[in-house]
Formats: sequence, C-alpha cells, structure tokens
Amino acid sequence: MKLIGPFKQIVTLANLPLRGKLSDDQLEIIENGGILVDDGKVVEIASFEFLKNEAKHSQIELIEDEQICLPAFTDSHTHICFGGNRANDFAMRNAGKTYLEIAESGGGIWSSVQHTRNASEVELLETTLERINSLISLGITTIEIKSGYGLDLENELKMLRVIQKAQTFTNATLVPTCLSAHLKPRDFKGSSEEYLNYIVDEILPQVKEEKLSDRVDIFIEKSAFQPEESKQFLLKAKALGFHITVHADQFTPGSSRIAVEVGAKSADHLEATIDQDIQFLANSETVAVALPGASLGLGEKFTPARKILDYNGILAIASDWNPGSAPMGNLITQASILATFEKLSTAEVLAGITFRSAFALGLDDRGKLEKRKKADFVTFKTDNFQNVLYQQGSLKKESVFIDGIKV
Ligand code: NIG
Ligand code: FE
Repeated sequence: MKLIGPFKQIVTLANLPLRGKLSDDQLEIIENGGILVDDGKVVEIASFEFLKNEAKHSQIELIEDEQICLPAFTDSHTHICFGGNRANDFAMRNAGKTYLEIAESGGGIWSSVQHTRNASEVELLETTLERINSLISLGITTIEIKSGYGLDLENELKMLRVIQKAQTFTNATLVPTCLSAHLKPRDFKGSSEEYLNYIVDEILPQVKEEKLSDRVDIFIEKSAFQPEESKQFLLKAKALGFHITVHADQFTPGSSRIAVEVGAKSADHLEATIDQDIQFLANSETVAVALPGASLGLGEKFTPARKILDYNGILAIASDWNPGSAPMGNLITQASILATFEKLSTAEVLAGITFRSAFALGLDDRGKLEKRKKADFVTFKTDNFQNVLYQQGSLKKESVFIDGIKV
C-alpha cells in the first residue's frame, strides 16, 4: 500500500451522475487530502493526516509544494496515427476554400491516406508514440485512436497493428477503433455500398481474428457515407460483435439518429444536430461527444453542449486530434474554450473529459477518484483546481500517475 499526498485539494468527482447538467457545488473537494493506493487501484481518499495514522505501515510518497489533484483525463476520440500533415489545407481553408472543396481538389482525408500508406510501420509507430506522450503530458491517460487513413485491408491492418504495438510502449490505456469507413478510397473500384461490404467481408473479420479492435466507426456525411447504407453497415458490424461509434451530424443533420437507433456507444461531432435530434440523443444511452478542436480547426460552430446537458444527455468532450480538421491536440485548451462559448460549469467540463468520456469507451473503472477505481490522476502546482480551466491549458500539469505510479 502506498499513500500519496498531501494535496491542497483533491477533486474526486465521486457521486456525480452519468448524465445531465452539473453545478460546481456538487463537486467533492477534499482539502489537504491523501490517496491510498494498492495494486493500481484507489483504496481510500481522505485527509492525509487521517490516512497517515490509519495506514501506518504504508509507504508514503510525499507531494512537495502546493498541488491539486484531479482524476486523469480520457480523450475518447482521436486520429493520432497518421503520416504527413495538412498545413496547406489549413492555409487554403483560411484563404476561403471550404473543407469539402479542399477534399474535392485532392487535399483532405485522401491526402493523409496517401501519406499514411507510404509511411512504414516504424515511422508511424514513432510519430504515434510522440502524440501519445504529448497527450499524457496534458494529464490524459486513456486515449482512443482510430484507423481510417489506410482504407484498404493492408493499410487499415497496418494502422491497427501500429496502435497495438504502441500499447506495448506506454502505460496509458489505448482504445483502438476501426474507422475503415472514413471515406471510400479513390482507388476502390465500386460503389460506396460495395466498399462498406468489403469492410464487413474482408477487413472486420481480420480485425477480429487479430484482436486489433472491438469498435467500429463510420463518417456519415454527404461527402462520405449516406445514411441508409451506413445503417446497414453498422448493423452488420454489430452482428459481428463490434461496439459502434459514429462521426455524426458534422456538417449535415440526421446521422445522430442512426447512431442512437443502432445503439452506438457514442455519436461524435454533432455541430449540425437539429433540436429534435438533440432530444432524441439525450434520451438515449449513446454518449454525445463534442469535439471543439474540430470547430476551432475549421472555424465552424460548436456542438450544442449546453442543450445536450439541459436535455439530460450524456456529454463527453474529446480532441478529435487529426491532421486535417483538428490539428491542435490540446484537449484542456479546447474544453476550456467550449465552456466559455457554451456556458458549461467546471463540473460539466471535468465530467466530460473524465468519467463521461470513459463511459463513451465502455470503461466505468476510471475517471473518478473513489474506492476501487483505477488510480490514474493528474496534479497541478496551484492552490485552486479552478485555475486549470481558467488558464485554458496554459497551466501545465505537474505530475501524472497511472495505476498509482508517477510516469
Ligand atoms: O473527425 N470528419 C471526419 N473525420 C475527421 C477529419 C479527419 C481528417 O480531416 O483527416 C474528423 O473531423
Ligand atoms: Fe474524428
């Protein structure tokens, strides 16, 4: 057993509900607290002095200076396994071209596909690990990573194998997702429906066989896959035993409905979701994932996070870190900015990047600091936890602990 502390404040997020709005007076804040850890799990959280007396024989890891402690964060939506970059897309877009126009003129997702196909596994592994480490340095210890820049059997498997390999180099939890249905690749001879069938028949069985991922994603959008074919695809993926997540309502509404209808774990984006569909989503078990990094990268409106919470939905916030629409990769900055535009309480933002985003990945063992939860937490050198979001990402973490061990 190990006692870690004392912390000026530990914000446990214990007892907060999975869904709906939260106010900051619901936050449990332990002053001068300690965290008792055993075998990677939280045993108890209480006053440091109390725990010091109670657990006399435990080892003590002393925290110097004034620090606050939060549950470590979960980023439930990233595309950080990719080759090349799309700085030119960014410049073109800001010079007046739209996301879709850039895609149609040879930039966009397809250019990342070519760079990713051309990258070796070693190169991809190296850059993916760099991005993982950059996320860990923000206090993120659970990271979802999508394929979707390979778009054929060989290259989709290459991406997912790289993600699997990356897991052997990091203590963070990586959650791989198969996004072969990101776009119909230009070199595929056949309709988009035929491409979706190719994924079901050729890619998913192999993904299953090699245990590369148990999650399937699709980009439902005018420029990608259409609603009805997407629904059939998702039902087939589900029948194969995959959990579902959807890139929904990014530019045009309608697809969040499909996500709910197929029982998806999450519907992500939702910038264009209409009011009726927000209510439909908010009444379901499907997590609504806001991706403010994509709004900031594209100059588009934000996901209606306030409404989702007011309708009692489950709101998570993720970075969408990718080379095209969301190049920033700083979830703390993005979530803080979303809070100012959407009027989210500190409790709502913290819940959205911890236990609610973990739930979007099917994980209920983390994101709160309470008994038996995974002892993943992040500390900041400050006397008040409010400073973390207030400084919009410029207050850097002091330490990150995974399974009770400083990384
Ligand atoms: O989540 N919307 C589709 N997919 C990504 C963008 C990927 C890319 O542009 O490379 C997204 O924003
Ligand atoms: Fe995305």
